[in-house]
Amino acid sequence: MLHVFTIILDYAAFCSIILVTGIVVKVLYNLYLHPLRHYPGPRLWAATRLTWTCSMQSGNFHRHLRDLHDRYGPVVRIAPDELSYTDARAWKDIYGNRNIFKNRIWAGQEEATHPLSIVSTDEATHVRNRRALMGAFTEHAVIEHAPILESLVDTMIQNFKQDAIKNQGRIIVNISDWLNFLAFDISGALSFGESFGSVKQGYAHPWVEISCSFGKGIAMMASINYFRPLDKLMKYVIPAKVLEKMQYHKQLVHEKLMQRLAMEHKAKSQDFVGSIMAYNEEKGEVKIPMDEVEANMTVLIFAGSETTATAMVSIFMQLLKNPERMERVQKEIRDAFATEEDIKIANLSHLDYLTAVIEEGIRLGPPAAVGQPRVTPKEGEMIAGKWVPGNTYLAVNQFPTFRSATNFTNPDSFIPERFLPSSPYPNDKIASFEPFLLGRHKCVGQKLAWAEMRITLARILYAFDIKATVPPGDFGDQRTFIFWEKKKLDIELRPREECL
Ligand code: HEM
Repeated sequence: MLHVFTIILDYAAFCSIILVTGIVVKVLYNLYLHPLRHYPGPRLWAATRLTWTCSMQSGNFHRHLRDLHDRYGPVVRIAPDELSYTDARAWKDIYGNRNIFKNRIWAGQEEATHPLSIVSTDEATHVRNRRALMGAFTEHAVIEHAPILESLVDTMIQNFKQDAIKNQGRIIVNISDWLNFLAFDISGALSFGESFGSVKQGYAHPWVEISCSFGKGIAMMASINYFRPLDKLMKYVIPAKVLEKMQYHKQLVHEKLMQRLAMEHKAKSQDFVGSIMAYNEEKGEVKIPMDEVEANMTVLIFAGSETTATAMVSIFMQLLKNPERMERVQKEIRDAFATEEDIKIANLSHLDYLTAVIEEGIRLGPPAAVGQPRVTPKEGEMIAGKWVPGNTYLAVNQFPTFRSATNFTNPDSFIPERFLPSSPYPNDKIASFEPFLLGRHKCVGQKLAWAEMRITLARILYAFDIKATVPPGDFGDQRTFIFWEKKKLDIELRPREECL
C-alpha cells in the first residue's frame, strides 16, 4: 500500500516539475525570444497573459491601460501576444484594413455553439447580416423611428414634471437609472415592435439587470478562452445564476420575436426585424434564417441601449460638474425653440454646442471603453509606422486614447469647445476620437444613437433647471467589464415655469 502511495507521490512530483519547467520556459521565451520582445511595456504583462486577465477581471483594465500608455507611450505590449494603441494612425491601420480580422478568441467558444449574427467573426456572415440590418439604420429609417423616440422621451419628461408638481416644484431622480430605462425601451420598441414600459412605469425591466451580467460574462469568457484547455471548463465556472439569466434572456428574445412577427401592422416597418424580413424577401430566399434573426436581436437589445445610456450618463456627469457649460448648452437649446413641442429630432443637428457637448462627454466616458480586439495576418502588418509580426492581437483602446495628453490638451477636463471650429486647442488630435469605430465593423447604429442622444438631452435641458445633489466624481473612476458598471447619479430637476 505504502509502495503505491510513494509511486503516486513520485508521479505527482514529476508532473509538477514538468509543469513548472514548462511555465518557466514559456515566461523566458515571452520575455527574451518572442517576436514582440522589443515593444515597450511592463515585464509582468509581457511575461504572461495572467496579468492581463487579473486586470480585466478587476474592472480596472481601462485605468491600468491608461497608466501603461502614460508610462510607455502610444503602443504598449499588454500581454505576450498583444499590443494596445493610442496612436491616431492605428485606427485606420487596424480597423480600416481588410487583412486584419476580429480576434476569434474573444467569442470563439460562444460561436461554436450559438447561431451567428452581425457580430460574428466570420466575415461572410457579418456582411450578410449587416446588409440585412442596414435598412433599419439609414437616414430614412431614423426619420421613421423618430416619433417612437420622441414619444418615449416625452413620457419620461411628463413623469418627471408630474412628480415635481406633487413635490413643491422639484424632484430628485437617479438619472443613470432613467436613461437606462429609456434606452432599453427604445431598443425594445425598435427590436420587437413595443417598448418594455420601463419609462412609463418608472422601474427597470429584468433585461436592464441582465445586461450588466452580460458584460461581465463576455469579460470572463474573453479571459478564460486564452487559457486552453481551461475554456472547456467554462460552463462549470460560470455561476448558476448567470447561466439562468442567460437562459431567461434567450427565452425572452424568442417570445418577443414571435410576438413581433405576429404584428400585422408592423409588416412594412423598417425596424430591426422588418429590415431583415424585407432583405430576405428582396433576395427571394431566406438569407437570414430565423435562428440568426433571433441571435441578432439578442445582440441589438444590448448594443443599442447600454452604449447610448452610458454616453448620456457621462454627458450629464460632466455638465453637472461644469455649470458654465451647462448654462451655455441650455441657452443654445432654449434660444432655438419657442416651445418644448417644437423640439424634434429633425431640427436638432444644427445645434453645434450640443453636438460638441455630446462628443466631449463621450470622449471622457466612451461606451466602448476597451476591447474591439483584432489580429494581424500571419505574414504581419505595418501599424502606426512600425512592423507588427503575424498573429499578434491588437486594439485601439478608447479610454486611454481619449484621455491621452498626447492626443488632447487637459485630457481630463470637460471642454466641448475643443470640438468646435474655433477650438482653443487646435493641436488636439481629433482624428484619435473614433468612439463608433471605423471600417467595415463600425457601429451600424450611429445615426440612431445620435438621434436618441440629441432628443433626450435637448428635451431635459430645455424643460428643467438641473443640479447635482452630491458633487459627481470622474466617470472614469467606475469599473468596466466590457460595459461600464454605472453608479447611481442623483440629480435635482426643477421644471421651468413656461414648461409646466
Ligand atoms: C453612443 C452610442 C454607441 C456607441 C459609442 C457605439 C459603439 C460601437 C462600437 C465601438 C462598435 C464596434 C464594435 C466592434 O467591432 O467590436 C459598435 C458596433 C455595433 N453597434 Fe454600436 N454604438 C452605439 C450605439 C448603438 C446603437 C444605438 C445600436 C443599434 C440599435 C448599435 C448597434 C451596433 C451593432 C449592431 C454593431 C456591430 C456592427 C458590425 O459589426 O458590423 N450601436 N458600436
